[in-house]
Amino acid sequence: MLDLALNLPLHSALNVPLILADLPLFPPAASAQAGPIDELYWFEVIVSAIMTVLIFAAVAFFAWKYRRRPGVRAVQIEGSTGLELTWSILPFLVMLVMFWWGAKLYYAAQNPPLDAAEVFVTGKQWMWKIQYADGTREINTLHVALNQPVKLTMASEDVIHSFSIPAFRVRHDVVPGTYDSLWFTPTKVGRYHIFCTEYCGNQHAQMGGWVEVLDERAYANWASGGGGEGSLSEQGQKLFAQNGCSTCHLLDQQGRCPILRGLYNKPVQLRDGSTVMANDAYLRESILDANAKIVSGFDADVMPNFKGQLSEENVIQLIAYIKSLSPATPATQQGSQQPAVVVAPRARAAGAAAQPQQ
Ligand code: CUA
Repeated sequence: MLDLALNLPLHSALNVPLILADLPLFPPAASAQAGPIDELYWFEVIVSAIMTVLIFAAVAFFAWKYRRRPGVRAVQIEGSTGLELTWSILPFLVMLVMFWWGAKLYYAAQNPPLDAAEVFVTGKQWMWKIQYADGTREINTLHVALNQPVKLTMASEDVIHSFSIPAFRVRHDVVPGTYDSLWFTPTKVGRYHIFCTEYCGNQHAQMGGWVEVLDERAYANWASGGGGEGSLSEQGQKLFAQNGCSTCHLLDQQGRCPILRGLYNKPVQLRDGSTVMANDAYLRESILDANAKIVSGFDADVMPNFKGQLSEENVIQLIAYIKSLSPATPATQQGSQQPAVVVAPRARAAGAAAQPQQ
């Protein structure tokens, strides 16, 4: 269980007693990010332990050294600049190391590799609903392939949940009204707990499930089971027609609403002059609340609001469809800014959203 502790350079360098290895204190380390995160964890634990011991030893020593004794008068001790600089600068440097180390891991956690498989997770009191690109759906079970990076795009249908896989050292709040995401690369075949780690109602404790990490063959075998309802984007295409979206969002010519082909992850100029990225979060908002951001050259109140009409899962299907209209665009982190983002020139006003850039 605790083989992770023994794999750690810091840990083994300190020769932590073997008995620790038998205590199930830590989940297995089953992702590529688990090792580096554990190293930082142990670094912070060890630095904190050393500082605690030093401080308490100094307190005890000075309490003894300057204890009250008959015939000895207390004298005022003035400061020592050298000592004060030392105890300020050294901890500052140690903190800077922690900051740099933590920031490095944080940024890595924010940026999924472009080849990451995308899986959608919807939290709902009290279950996790999983949707795969091929249209397969599961509840409380997530199948992933060994050594294949996976990016989860997560939505909530009701309250704040938090998606956590301790064995992968990943956790992220899932906040209603937007998308949250996290990513990991599973490195050990097995079955690992999924938890909800944000109190979300009286059955919060039961809101969990399992990640199944399968090797290449087993995964291919599982994936060949396929969903009978078509791929995620095909499901989206169906919804697109059913909800009448296709009457205004024409595919190849300007309709009453912007053309969606080539839109995904491209900058969109809005009527107020600002520019937004057509990422998952923007598309979700525009589907549910069409007036939130009006594209330059278009009118408000043309498109009905689909808030309450479409579930988060439906919205995910629609976005998958819109994404499929921009095939060359790699999935990127929601909210991330790509260097290529430029403010669309004013001259492109009408239908700015529709024309693929570059
Ligand atoms: Cu969902 Cu706690």
